[in-house]
Amino acid sequence: MTTNELRQKFLDFFKEKGHAIIPSASVVPENDPTVLFTTAGMHPLVPYLLGQPHPMGKRLADAQKCVRTDDIDEVGDNRHLTFFEMLGNWSLGDYFKRETITWSFEFLTDKNWLGIDPEKLFVTVFEGDEDAPQDEESIGIWQGLFATYGIVADAGDRIRAYPKKENWWGPAGLTGPCGSDTEIFYDTGKPHDKTFGETCHQNCDCGRFGEIWNNVFMEYDKQADGSFKPLAQKNVDTGMGLERIVAVMQNVETVYEIDAFAPVLDKIAGLSGKTYAGNERAFRIIADHVRAATFIIGDERGVAPSNVGQGYIVRRLLRRAIREGRRLGITEPFTHLVAEVYAGLYGEHYRELEENLSKIVDEMKKEEEKFGKTLEKGMKELEKMLSVGAHGYAPITGEQAFLLFSSYGFPLELTEEILREKGQSVDRDVFASEFKKH
Ligand code: SER
Repeated sequence: MTTNELRQKFLDFFKEKGHAIIPSASVVPENDPTVLFTTAGMHPLVPYLLGQPHPMGKRLADAQKCVRTDDIDEVGDNRHLTFFEMLGNWSLGDYFKRETITWSFEFLTDKNWLGIDPEKLFVTVFEGDEDAPQDEESIGIWQGLFATYGIVADAGDRIRAYPKKENWWGPAGLTGPCGSDTEIFYDTGKPHDKTFGETCHQNCDCGRFGEIWNNVFMEYDKQADGSFKPLAQKNVDTGMGLERIVAVMQNVETVYEIDAFAPVLDKIAGLSGKTYAGNERAFRIIADHVRAATFIIGDERGVAPSNVGQGYIVRRLLRRAIREGRRLGITEPFTHLVAEVYAGLYGEHYRELEENLSKIVDEMKKEEEKFGKTLEKGMKELEKMLSVGAHGYAPITGEQAFLLFSSYGFPLELTEEILREKGQSVDRDVFASEFKKH
């Protein structure tokens, strides 16, 4: 099952259950200055979760383009993506826990849909605190569903309860709709690594369990004073990371090995003459960052690289990708060539990528030329600083590394890399305090 097929299956399933399929909202939020990007499917729907009637009704489903930049430094590991698609079904004051949990289970396990072995599924619920009680209702619903396959789902094992940190979602900002949630995990069967704790469990960091789907019961409106006021209507907000569920279905170890990345990894291999195996981190950073930049520039409210706001993020994404490209030995502008592969892969569902392709290509080319010049100038300065020493190389101070960064746009990581070859390093503490002063 390809990424495009799975997305369609999800939408078809919820259409059958009486949901209107709504298009993805823009990845650059409208009328919300508190965030740079749409970070979850619920984000564009906040007014409707608060009670405003939605023109398409009370049952909605979608695939929403999302960007989360807080994970940017973790890209390169096997789970984190800057851009991802979130599949979601929504009840705006219509159905609640029983229906949505039952449908999640049906979609995942029924042979007509994904047909995942229910033995592989583990779930979590909210354990309760002074704001809301333990979610006994969801525990009961889950037990009933697992029982249909003859599986005894013990609370404390297949079903575990956790505090707010794990099983509460929202609000997206400081105030707004939120509630407890129940999360569905897939058991990869990897042996437990005891350095992460004596016993393995759904939220263990050893990597045995991967979260695939979250069902949020949005029944509270968090107030500015920190209290939780019941919402006028009880809503359901679910989110399933498309790339993660595709990785499960395609039985691959990481999200980067799904079909939606394969032609891109091939492209990078072709351009660099290197293989993915052995260069995973660089390949993943390029694949992830160029995909995010493609969707942000190509959005209906598209943003070009710049020094402010969303534009700064696009610039940072592209420059990090370009640097990894140079490291792999790609000397010519290449990010636009990767973007073209994405437009081909996603253009049928996200028509804006095809429509805006020439803009995406132009912006990426321009950025890559600009960054090339930055690198050249920075290199010259760095060489000057290095040659000051009478005997061999002069050590570069944290202040100088910061000057390269702030005045020439020369990335710290690059300074470090060049210095490493000369047996030197940058004093990161000094760099950080200069950064703070700045
Ligand atoms: N809002 C929840 C999440 O982002 C479910 O969609 O995980």
